[in-house]
Amino acid sequence: VLTTERLILRPWRDADVAPVTAMFADPTVMRYFLGTRDAAYSEKWVAGVRAHFDRTGFGIWAVEAPGVASFMGFAGLSTVPNTMPACPGVEIVWTLAEAYWRRGYATEAARAALADGFRRLGLDEIVAFTATVNTPSRGVMAKIGMRRDEREDFSHPRIPKGHELGPHVLYRAAANPARIRP
Ligand SMILES: CC(C)(COP(=O)(O)OP(=O)(O)OC[C@H]1O[C@@H](n2cnc3c(N)ncnc32)[C@H](O)[C@@H]1OP(=O)(O)O)[C@@H](O)C(=O)NCCC(=O)NCCS
Repeated sequence: VLTTERLILRPWRDADVAPVTAMFADPTVMRYFLGTRDAAYSEKWVAGVRAHFDRTGFGIWAVEAPGVASFMGFAGLSTVPNTMPACPGVEIVWTLAEAYWRRGYATEAARAALADGFRRLGLDEIVAFTATVNTPSRGVMAKIGMRRDEREDFSHPRIPKGHELGPHVLYRAAANPARIRP
C-alpha cells in the first residue's frame, strides 16, 4: 500500500470490479483506446492485475481517496507486454473515472508509483506510452518529469495503419536522470 497526501494506492478488492467495469464501459474514459470493454474483460483484467502482483511483487493499484471515493480508478506499474517496442521494461499506467479528472489525482498517484519503482523495486528506468493524440495522459507524463524522445515514437502493433490512435509516443523516467539519452 502507498499513501500520498490525498490518496491510498491499495490492493484490489472484489468490490472494485463493478466500478472498474463502469470505467472500461465509458466511451469518454476509453476515448484513446480502440473501444469500450465489457464486464467479462474487466473481471479478467482485474484477475490479471492481481496475478501480476503475486508473480512480481509489483503492479497496478486501486486508487482510493479517503472521504472522496473508495475507488476512483487505478495507477501503478506493469510489465511491458512482449508485443510492444519498449519490451523488456516496466511501464507506468493510470486511468481514473471521469468524475475525478483535472484535480491532480493522476499526477499524485503516478509520482508515488514512480518513487516506489525506483526506491523499493530498485528499477533503473520506467517507461510510459500512449497514443500521440492522448493529451491528458501525456500531460501526466510530462508533469511527473518523464521525457519523450521523438526518435522513439512508434506505431501501435495492434492498431490498423491509418487509424488516428496508431501513432504512439514513448516517455522514459530514469532513477538517475543522467542515464536518459540526450
Ligand atoms: C489521463 C488521466 C488519468 C489524467 O488524470 P487527471 O487526474 O485528470 O490528471 P491530472 O489532473 O493529474 O493532470 C496532469 C496534467 O495533465 C494534463 N491534462 C490532464 N487532463 C487534461 C485534459 N483533459 N486536457 C489537456 N491536458 C490535460 C495537464 O497538463 C495537467 O496538468 P494541469 O492540470 O496542471 O494543467 C485521465 O484523463 C484519464 O483517466 N483518461 C482516460 C484514460 C486514459 O487515457 N488513460 C491513459 C492511458 S495511456
